[in-house]
This record gives sequence, structure tokens and C-alpha cells, in this order.
Amino acid sequence: MNASISRGLWAVGAVSSVMIALVSYRYFIPSIPEPSNVTGNLMARPWLLVHAGLAATALLTGPWQFLPRLRARAPRLHRWLGRIYIFSCVVGGTGGLLLASGATAGPIARAGFGLLAVVWLVVNLQGLRLAMTGRYAEHRQWMIRSFALTFGAVLLRVYIPISQMMGIEFMTAYRAISWLAWVPNLIVAELYLRSPPRRKPVPAAA
Ligand code: HEM
Repeated sequence: MNASISRGLWAVGAVSSVMIALVSYRYFIPSIPEPSNVTGNLMARPWLLVHAGLAATALLTGPWQFLPRLRARAPRLHRWLGRIYIFSCVVGGTGGLLLASGATAGPIARAGFGLLAVVWLVVNLQGLRLAMTGRYAEHRQWMIRSFALTFGAVLLRVYIPISQMMGIEFMTAYRAISWLAWVPNLIVAELYLRSPPRRKPVPAAA
């Protein structure tokens, strides 16, 4: 992929991730009412706060990990952000799994969110194991898969208003989006990881 396209995609991804993360921390402000479809979740107490707080932290810390300059110039910062990211994914993902079991949207949404939570946990633990054993090339690949899943939280919040604008009934859309928010991301991440490595342009001969 062209370097300026990938920089542009990174910027759009980082800005939207930070925005959705900051909006998600609203659950910690008692005066802001929670949406009824979420408070109806059988596992909302206490898991909604655990999940929303930590999963939002994963979204906030993840994008910077893909900046090669930051990794090279501040490796300690990369490691600390990485620890916070993985902890947030693993504990926030456990909360997501419990919330999935109590989702009011029925078995299709429970399965979509539940499988996402399991895959999120497995991918992050694999990424952590590879970093701890010094297998950094593979660690990078698994963390790309991880953030493709984390970014599903942004896409879910883009697809819901789009589906409403298209006039699709909310629950029908929500059930489909519990899968559409992450399965295509994983396929795109896989295609990216399998694409030939980018080469620097060879300067023209004088
Ligand atoms: C990637 C794995 C994730 C899974 C499996 C997951 C699962 C869930 C489930 C099952 C619910 C309850 C939905 C319902 O009852 O209908 C929920 C709600 C929520 N999740 Fe996640 N989630 C994930 C990632 C994230 C991320 C990265 C964020 C960061 C912003 C996030 C933030 C929230 C918030 C704020 C809610 C409350 C509902 C809302 O305000 O939209 N989740 N999640």
C-alpha cells in the first residue's frame, strides 16, 4: 500500500478510535442516563462499567502502537502502552463475554458478540506470548489482528446510524452488526498480512 494512503488510513482510524473511546467513558458520569437496550442486559451490573472502561482504554492506547517512529524512539513507552492495551483487552474482553451472554437482542447477537470476545481474548494472549518470547515479527501480526477486532467497536457505532438511515429495523440491524462489525475487519487484516511487503522505490539511474 502507498505510504501516504496508509498514513491517511492510520490518522482516520486513530481519530475515530479516540473519539469513540472518550464517548464511551460517559458511563462513568452518573448524571448521563444509560440507553435502555444496554441497561436491560442481564449482566450490566457490574460488567458494563468494567467492559466499557477497559475496552475504551484499549481503543485509546492501541493506535499509537503502530507508529514505527514511536516504537524506535520510545521502546519503553511502547512496552507500557502495550501492557495497558493487552490488560484492557483481556479484562475488558472477559466483561464483553459476560455481557454477550446477557444481551437482550437474542441468540444471534449473543453468538456474534460472544465469539468476538473469545477471538479477542485468544488473539491478545497469543500477541502477548509472542512479545514475551521475543518473536516480534509474529507479535506484530497478531497485534494487527487484535486491533482489527478492537476497531469493531468504532465500526459498530458507524454501522448502527447508517442502518437507521437506511430504514432497517433496529434489532434486525443490531443482530447483523454484531457479526458485520468484526468478521470483515479480520478478513481485511488477513489480506493485508498476506500481501507482498512494500518496497522502497528504487531511485532512477542518473
Ligand atoms: C472487541 C470485543 C468486544 C466485545 C466482545 C464487546 C461486547 C459487548 C457487549 C456484548 C455489549 C452489550 C451489548 C448489549 O447488551 O446489547 C457491549 C457494550 C458496550 N461496549 Fe463492547 N465489546 C467489545 C469491544 C468494545 C470496545 C473496544 C469498546 C470501546 C469503546 C466497547 C465499548 C462498549 C460500550 C461503551 C458498551 C455499552 C453500549 C454502548 O454504549 O454502545 N466495546 N460490548
